[in-house]
Order: sequence, then C-alpha cells, then structure tokens
Amino acid sequence: MEGVVRRCRELARVSEEEGRLTRWFGGPAMARANALVGRWMGEAGMVVRVDAAGNLVGHLPGSDPEAGTLLLGSHLDTVRDAGAFDGPLGVLAAIECVARLRAEEVSLPFSVDVYGFSDEEGLRFGTAYLGSAAVAGTLGPETLDVADARGVTVREALAAFGPGPDGASRRGERLLGYVELHIEQGPVLERRDAPVAVVTAIAGATRAEVGIRGRSGHAGTVPMELRRDAACALAELVLAVEAAGRAEPGMVATVGRLTVEPGAPNVIPGAAAASLDVRHADDAVRTTSVTALRERADALGGARGVEVRWDERLSTPAVAMDARLSDLLAEAVAARGAPDVRLPSAAGHDAVALSVLAPTAMLFVRCAGGVSHHPDESVDPADVAVALDVLDGFLRRLGAS
Ligand code: HGY
Ligand code: MN
Ligand code: MN
Repeated sequence: MEGVVRRCRELARVSEEEGRLTRWFGGPAMARANALVGRWMGEAGMVVRVDAAGNLVGHLPGSDPEAGTLLLGSHLDTVRDAGAFDGPLGVLAAIECVARLRAEEVSLPFSVDVYGFSDEEGLRFGTAYLGSAAVAGTLGPETLDVADARGVTVREALAAFGPGPDGASRRGERLLGYVELHIEQGPVLERRDAPVAVVTAIAGATRAEVGIRGRSGHAGTVPMELRRDAACALAELVLAVEAAGRAEPGMVATVGRLTVEPGAPNVIPGAAAASLDVRHADDAVRTTSVTALRERADALGGARGVEVRWDERLSTPAVAMDARLSDLLAEAVAARGAPDVRLPSAAGHDAVALSVLAPTAMLFVRCAGGVSHHPDESVDPADVAVALDVLDGFLRRLGAS
C-alpha cells in the first residue's frame, strides 16, 4: 500500500530539527503536521478540526445518529530522531480506510472519528498520552502543572488550543470503542513470518525524572574525599536501574536522558538529572521495582551527601484489550488469509489512555527487524496492505454486527 507508506515518509520530513525527525507537543512542526494530515483527512471526505488538546480529528458521520462513534487513529508526535511509522502509520491507515469506504459508497451506521493524537511520546514534558488522556477526560493537576525545560507548564501549552483540556473530553458519549493500528516495534512478527497480529494487552509503565544536587567545585583543587559529585551519584543510580531491569524476567528499565551541570570539563558537577522508564506486564512487579530503585537513590544520596529529588511523571497499569473488538479483528485477519497471531505489547500506546473511556483493541503490523524509535524504522507495503484490508474488514463486520 504505497500511498500510506509514501505519505508516512512525506510526513516524516515535517520536523523541528534539520536532518532528523523530531516532533514535540505544541511545536511549529506539530502545526505543520496537523495541516498536512488534516488536508488528507479532508480529501477523504472527513470534517476536520483540532480539539482543545491539539489533537487532529477527522469526522465521518454514520447513517444512524443513534449508533454512536468508533474512534480510530494513533499519534502524530514523535520521539527525538524518530522513525517515520511509529504513530503516523495508524493515523494514515485509518484515513485510507475511510477513503476506501467512501470510494465504494459504503456507509457505516456509526460515525468514525480518526484521531492524530498530539502527544503520546511525552518528549516535551516527560509524561505521555497528553492528547489521548485529554480525550479520556483524565488529565489531572498532577500533569497539568508539569513544566517543560523552559518552565512552560502543560496547562499553559494546552491554552494555545482552547479554553482548557476539558474541551477535548469525549466522556459521556456513546463510543463503540477505540481501535489503533501500529507497528509492532518488536521482532516477533518477523520471527513468526506473519504480517499482522492482534494485541492482547499493553504492559504497565512508570516514568520519573530524578534530580541530584551536590556541590560544584574546582576539578583540580577539591580532594576526592570532600566531593559531592552529582554526576557520580547519578552514574551509580543508572547502573542500579540497569541491574534492576536485568534482575527481573520480563522487566525493562531505561535511563534515556542524562544531563550534568554546569557541564565544564574542569568543574565538579553540582547537579545532574535523569529520566527513568520502567515497564513490566505485572503491575506489582513493576511498582515494587520502582520503589526499590527510589529507596536505592535515597540511600546513595545519603552516602554521597547529595540531595535526591524523585518526580514520578506517569504510572499506567497494564491494560487488557477488549475481547469482542479483538475477536472481530481476528475474524478480519482470518478472512484476509493471514495467520492468527496474538501478541502483548511492551510498548505503550494511546490505547492505554483511552481504555478508561471505551473498549480498545490494537492491530500490530510487522516492522523490519523490529526496529523503532530509530530512523531505520520501516514497513513492507505488502504488510500494510494486509493491515488495511483487516481494518477495512473489521469496520464492515462492526457495522454489520
Ligand atoms: O514509549 C513507548 O512505549 C511508546 O512508543 N510511547
Ligand atoms: Mn513511540
Ligand atoms: Mn507509538
């Protein structure tokens, strides 16, 4: 399905940075991406708007106003130095399915809203799911007051899109569900030689920002035993995070961002900060591990005479996908002649945030080498064609059910 793949690559040129793909919430590239994808939504016959959380929304009315609305889509924001398909493939595939239904003059009883969510990755604020949480009506002050590196809060950033995040909420509406098509971001479909999989569950995740304050000083004159070196304290914590991830089967633990201040070769670092990302399919295992890491951080801080600040930004439980919608997806997979593969997702998705609002289901598409969050991310158009046929088949089955 060259059209969708080609559009993903065209959209990937809309970036905040020269030479690599980075799109964060509320940045100029987000506005340009919304304009481009919004044009494609309009060409597919949808009514297009940007909601109060910056989400792009394409609306296709159903034939029966009482039949409710099905939500489709994925996210349009990216990580730093991202691939072209994580997020946009799900949005552009949903638009293609709507265009196909209209071209065949197939009218569904329910309405369809295709979302391009504004902030799933959490690159700017260290959180995740800002756009989809606003739709779910779950954005609370603990998130709205989080500030970015320049001190701008989520609340202030959202103000650019409307009177307040509550305007994006779909709570109380008759929603049939949320279905998201997404690359697998892992190697299993390649190993199983299958183009698609129905997702069974999404692992729980914790994200935190850890700040360490020691004392800067002259690298030449301060004896080692008198130092309160923030970078060494952080380095000890980073290795403890890695050890925690290795110690527990099925656990992944990552420090993706490190900063050291003041950042001069001949100055002992007085301050340091790190992001923390811990995931596991079992919430009790994850939360126990995070608590142990926090205790380890406090202990090493005490031993080194540095102050440790632990700021938990996100804790999402493991989420099971809806059985009925997943079975309808599996029926469409079988009808397309593809093998019936069911997979859990270790990656997070907007479906996590929306699972409190409506039944959710996901369809994975094979990606080369399982590579993601990397510019080498890629898909085979033949696999995308299968996935489109499955999503199309799902819509028609749901419409007939
Ligand atoms: O981090 C994740 O799992 C997703 O890509 N946001
Ligand atoms: Mn991602
Ligand atoms: Mn994603």
